[in-house]
Amino acid sequence: MLQIQENISLKPYNSFGIDVKASHFAEIFSEDDLKTLFATDLFKTQKLLILGGGSNILFTRDYNGLVVKLSIKGIEAQINGDEVLVKAGAGEVWNDFVNYCVDNNYAGVENLSLIPGTVGASPVQNIGAYGIELKDVFESCTAFKIDTGEIKIFNYHDCHFDYRESIFKSELKGQYIITSVTFRLSTIPSINTSYGAIEAELRLRGIIEPNIADVSAAVAHIRTSKLPDPSTIGNAGSFFKNPIIEKYEFADIVAKHPDIVHFSTTDGKIKLAAGWLIEQCGWKGKIVGQTGTWKNQALVLVNHGAATGLEVYDLSAQIIDSVKSTFEVTLEREVNIL
Ligand code: EPU
Repeated sequence: MLQIQENISLKPYNSFGIDVKASHFAEIFSEDDLKTLFATDLFKTQKLLILGGGSNILFTRDYNGLVVKLSIKGIEAQINGDEVLVKAGAGEVWNDFVNYCVDNNYAGVENLSLIPGTVGASPVQNIGAYGIELKDVFESCTAFKIDTGEIKIFNYHDCHFDYRESIFKSELKGQYIITSVTFRLSTIPSINTSYGAIEAELRLRGIIEPNIADVSAAVAHIRTSKLPDPSTIGNAGSFFKNPIIEKYEFADIVAKHPDIVHFSTTDGKIKLAAGWLIEQCGWKGKIVGQTGTWKNQALVLVNHGAATGLEVYDLSAQIIDSVKSTFEVTLEREVNIL
């Protein structure tokens, strides 16, 4: 039975652990729940916020509107030869889905182990880590159109994926609720350890011919050593995107900062490591009131216990200013600010 709660704390529903209130809150366990909610006046009249794991959001104030928490579960696999199409409900915890795939030897998402959040949120910002992005394994998703209640299928080309971007964050922002995602995986793994840290970690473990469980375990280990666990220290992963700049802009910067960490992108641009830029400006591990940057990864802002969203936001603004004045590079926030 669909329940709409009033005036509830969103602290358990955001990985930063920011204590703000929502005026209305509904948890959705099925597409039918969504249809029931659609028929209510509240759904039509209130501002809506769709929440998955709440792991890419910073609340800076109470939410005066209806928060819809997606908890649609279920995973089904359809095997055709060496290819497997795996359909997962939007509310599946991302890492539970990864573990299901690894346990069944469905290869493709093992490098994305331990990313916080839910399956339904994964296409929105085209999650990525350790050499793989969601778009590399995305087949399609189903989504509920907020103004009409129709269900639409989005295929790969409809989604306009880019680095931490998709149509759901741009042109169609706020228009759809993703209810399930289908992934194209394989029973014949093509192991991707090109990201340096994975190879080094496998070597340390004495593994020469890794299977997907080995890769998943190595990635999980690397993530745990670098990134704070949101269940103990509130955070939303990388707070900023790695800036992508043109080669001519890079030429000016590298002339002044010869040791700048950078990577070439496939389309001839340069990606800078935001964590390095922030560290060089002296922010790594700094504690500012109840917030700060993580000691092992300066790109992650954390809540040391009782931070307010505004405190975290102010810190992010100071970091943007100092990176701008040192490197003439403008950092863009990756986390949604509300
Ligand atoms: N670096 C520093 N200091 C730091 C952090 C990083 O010098 O404090 C340097 C590292 O030495 C390294 C480079 O920056 O040479 C890249 O660091 P890392 O491998 O940690 O990756 P990242 O670029 O900082 C990105 C993603 C992460 C993802 C990792 C691994 C973005 C915004 N972030 O971080 O994703 O886990 O690569 O693939 O693209 C997230 O989006 O929330 C997230 C955690």
